[in-house]
Amino acid sequence: MILRLIVTISLVITLSACNDDPPLDSVANSVERGKVLFYQTHIGKSLGCITCHSFSTDIKTVGPSLLGIGLRAGLSKPNMTAKAYLFESITNPDAHIVVGYEPNIMYSAYASELTKTQIEDLINFLLGQ
Ligand code: HEC
Repeated sequence: MILRLIVTISLVITLSACNDDPPLDSVANSVERGKVLFYQTHIGKSLGCITCHSFSTDIKTVGPSLLGIGLRAGLSKPNMTAKAYLFESITNPDAHIVVGYEPNIMYSAYASELTKTQIEDLINFLLGQ
């Protein structure tokens, strides 16, 4: 009985130590920061995301609507997670061109103008859209 209890407790401790997801409140803060960044009209020397992307299918802008991108991202490229696809879309936009759009239009220097945290914030925000 005692042994079973010890085994259970150590299993729970081991499992929670394996969970390296960030705490929920920090994800919420990241999403909030990502949203603010996404809606900025300028990022560094470039136009901000919202100048070319909407979240509505009725509003046609320069880039594709990002409505539903959180679900679509994981299905866009074989063997690529949603996070990896979004990271690539932001840091190396021409690696994959969305059907119906042209290469060389999305600004391609975000990788050097945004910090790692800012890119993560944008990804966390987009995953929920
Ligand atoms: C100058 C216009 C422009 C700006 C600014 C811009 N994008 Fe884009 N974006 C595009 C175009 C055009 C495409 C489609 C071509 C391609 O796939 O690269 C695209 C594609 C994407 C995609 C892939 C969408 C899909 O359906 O798979 C994502 C995600 C994205 N952009 C996010 C962003 C984020 C985040 C920012 C701001 C950091 C941003 N974009 C800024 C024009 C822009």
